[in-house]
Amino acid sequence: MVCGDRDPAVDVGRERRNLAQDVLEVRLVGVPHAVGIDLAAPEQDPRVPGVAVAAGPGQPVVAVCNAIETAADEGGPVLVDDYGATADPPAVPVVSPPREHGTDRTGSGGAKSALRLPLIGFGCSRYRDGEYVDRVDSIATALDSGYRLLDTAELYGNDHRIGELLAASGAPDRERVFVLGKPWRTNHRREHMLAAAEGSLADLAFDAFDCYALHWPTALAHRGELRRIAELPADRQEALAFPEDADGTLATDDVSIAEAWRNLEAVRDRGLTRTIGLCNASREQVERVLETGSVAPALVQIERHPYLPRTDLVSFCHDRGIRVVAHSPLSAPGLLDEPALAAIGADRDLSPAGVVLAWNVSRGVVPIPSSTAESHVVDNLAAAAERLSPDELARVDALCDPDFDPR
Ligand SMILES: NC(=O)c1ccc[n+]([C@@H]2O[C@H](COP(=O)([O-])OP(=O)(O)OC[C@H]3O[C@@H](n4cnc5c(N)ncnc54)[C@H](OP(=O)(O)O)[C@@H]3O)[C@@H](O)[C@H]2O)c1
Repeated sequence: MVCGDRDPAVDVGRERRNLAQDVLEVRLVGVPHAVGIDLAAPEQDPRVPGVAVAAGPGQPVVAVCNAIETAADEGGPVLVDDYGATADPPAVPVVSPPREHGTDRTGSGGAKSALRLPLIGFGCSRYRDGEYVDRVDSIATALDSGYRLLDTAELYGNDHRIGELLAASGAPDRERVFVLGKPWRTNHRREHMLAAAEGSLADLAFDAFDCYALHWPTALAHRGELRRIAELPADRQEALAFPEDADGTLATDDVSIAEAWRNLEAVRDRGLTRTIGLCNASREQVERVLETGSVAPALVQIERHPYLPRTDLVSFCHDRGIRVVAHSPLSAPGLLDEPALAAIGADRDLSPAGVVLAWNVSRGVVPIPSSTAESHVVDNLAAAAERLSPDELARVDALCDPDFDPR
């Protein structure tokens, strides 16, 4: 439906798109309903085989448009189908955890109790090859492409910009995006951790994170709040995030992982996050949290790629219903030049990066690659739909390097 002479282009995410053209294309292939108001999780219209209808707040708009088209074709009044509209609250979104997740202290619930996550997430770190880069355009591209898990952190300093993207017209509904946040190591004391969570949430304009995870198991000295750290001069950022003692060594703080975990539980108890997790932890540290905490981690985030598969830790977590998220899945030096990845990719029309991501997904691990290149953002998402065969998995597993030095 094209409305008179008015400009049919509208803002979707942060881009200007010609929706009328999109709708026209849909009609040309014989689909009678407009698609495109909310592509986050299209659902099937049970009455019309093969036709997707918008599932979110766009649904009434689609119903009205269809009613006008019908009235124009057949004459008569504009009768708007209820399209399943109901006074009931919307269904629980697929990507977010049930509210009660994590009440099992030991994590003994096994795979059945594990958090449901998208197959792949998008890394929002601004750190790239020793420099800080702006990530807003690439995060906007990721949301427009269909990523529904964003990995962010206080240290990345871009929570307010992610909040702006998610509040923009055309952005996916908040409850369809799983947002994973992290307090930095200088905020492991309770008052600092609560303030860090509240500050990030205020910038994101959210009530709560889907998961809030310790960025690192060990604590550093607190030298001031980190809110909007990216806007500070570089030397001030360094001094706050990597504090030094008088002798120039990194200034640590005496907060054990057990105490930091209790403080994270306090963040959860205040309703500031639905689940809690742990990054860069060893198996021993995860065990310590399981022994001492009241709530089991919903997820553990670790550096993971074919050189560093962390098989023991992954199995340990999966056996206890703890999801594993792979950070830095693509950036190990030399990894994407491995002939084995190119050979597997050639058979499947995947890049070496795509093979690494499919390897993670095939093992039940959620990779969170970052990219500033639109083609990579889109290709990486598509690769997550691939599953490697047992033979291909074994060929990737063979790249394991016991001497690989993690970050
Ligand atoms: N919890 C933690 O302590 C921690 C630590 C590190 C990272 N992380 C998280 O993990 C995310 C990802 O890690 P990372 O930033 O280290 O980077 P990464 O995802 O391992 O690698 C990014 C690099 O891979 C390239 N790339 C991406 N897709 C590609 C493709 N299809 N083909 C070829 N090259 C491709 C990118 O270049 P282009 O831009 O040109 O595509 C970039 O140089 C971070 O953003 C952050 O959210 C967490």
